[in-house]
Amino acid sequence: MKIVQVKDYKEMSQKAAEVIIHKVKQENRINLGLATGGTPKGLYEAMIEDHRKNGTSYQHVTTFNLDEYIGLKEQDPNSYHYYMAESLFNHIDIPKFQTYLPNGLADDNNHECEQYDRLIQALGGIDLQVLGIGQNGHIGFNEPGTSFQSSTHIVTLEESTRKANARYFNTLDDVPTHAITMGISSIMNSKEILLLISGEEKADAMQKLLHGEISEDFPASVLKRHSHVTIIADQKALSGVL
Ligand code: F6R
Repeated sequence: MKIVQVKDYKEMSQKAAEVIIHKVKQENRINLGLATGGTPKGLYEAMIEDHRKNGTSYQHVTTFNLDEYIGLKEQDPNSYHYYMAESLFNHIDIPKFQTYLPNGLADDNNHECEQYDRLIQALGGIDLQVLGIGQNGHIGFNEPGTSFQSSTHIVTLEESTRKANARYFNTLDDVPTHAITMGISSIMNSKEILLLISGEEKADAMQKLLHGEISEDFPASVLKRHSHVTIIADQKALSGVL
């Protein structure tokens, strides 16, 4: 794992945007894996700014998001469909039909999971996957204990994850209890991974990632088995390891 140390959230976002924009410009076709949450917001803002200023085009880009809550409509401001539209897709020239997220309202969730993995494979796999990390080491919604062999699947969200995400909802009760997430093996199939880590609340996770053992109890530790991972981490996240 290559570690890029940056000063703060802003610099992390800027550096991540540079990596993605460079790839997008270089390739004729590219499949990006995207995440939601607080971490990639600044990255998406930097991509939008670059699109406006420099005209970087996303016409040839296809995106696959890691996860979606079960039970929220696309138009629900807390759905990840809504987040992605508002935070990125509505502000760049990517064709809407080239942006994929798991469908949290499918009649048959298991079928939806299988289809999602199949679709990613059929379209050539993910070239570059952006990841954030949970304080408990989760990636996507793969909570501690998730099998490293897992493909896209349905998860019951841990109380700690629901609490961490409750800031976006009116009450904790409004936070869905289940989600669909790309599995650990789906994530590991990506050709390249860009993990963004910012803030002191992630310092413990950063420390475990770098110095802990590879274990399903700490899902992100699997990334040590991937041959092309870049971590962009800020000073606060690195405060426990430097
Ligand atoms: C969201 C996702 C999650 C987040 C993680 C960190 O698509 O995959 O694993 O990356 O929960 O969330 P933030 O960035 O809000 O700290």
